[in-house]
Amino acid sequence: MKHLGKVIAIIIVIAVAATAVNAKFNKAEDAIRYRQAVMVLVGQHFGSMGQVVKGKQPYDQTAFAKEAAVLEMLSKLPWEAFLYPESDRGKTKLKSKALKNQDDFMQAARKFETETAKLATDAKAGDLNAVKAQFGATAQTCKGCHSDFKSN
Ligand code: HEC
Repeated sequence: MKHLGKVIAIIIVIAVAATAVNAKFNKAEDAIRYRQAVMVLVGQHFGSMGQVVKGKQPYDQTAFAKEAAVLEMLSKLPWEAFLYPESDRGKTKLKSKALKNQDDFMQAARKFETETAKLATDAKAGDLNAVKAQFGATAQTCKGCHSDFKSN
């Protein structure tokens, strides 16, 4: 019985950990709010990195690498929320075609994740020229997805 208790405790820990990464939504409105919140953070962190890349703020390797690591983490979060059924209605700018062509949408999402991961790696290494180039490559993936799947 002691053993069974331990097993149950472990299962609960795993279940809690899994829900922490894989947010589940009860209704489209929750999914919309979740993904918009993530995108606000993405915009904020990417924007502040952009200030450095454009030379408007000084380059601090450690601080920049931290921002890039946050962005990498954020890049993994919102996709399930984007593909929630009927979440193209209501207070959202998601185009319906994202739900109709989910593979295309996910391809754009994965591209963004890949470029963001590279940005985090470059930021850690600290070569500002490489960082600038990779920041540009990442920005292209934002633009690409927005022009295909986000209305203005
Ligand atoms: C795979 C698609 C995709 C990628 C990649 C993507 N976005 Fe978005 N983004 C969207 C969609 C769709 C919305 C609209 C969400 C909604 O209204 O439900 C959005 C919304 C936003 C918003 C508005 C948030 C709000 O509701 O106020 C910002 C800011 C934003 N994105 C910034 C970025 C930046 C910066 C990047 C790149 C670093 C990026 N996005 C990458 C699809 C994407």
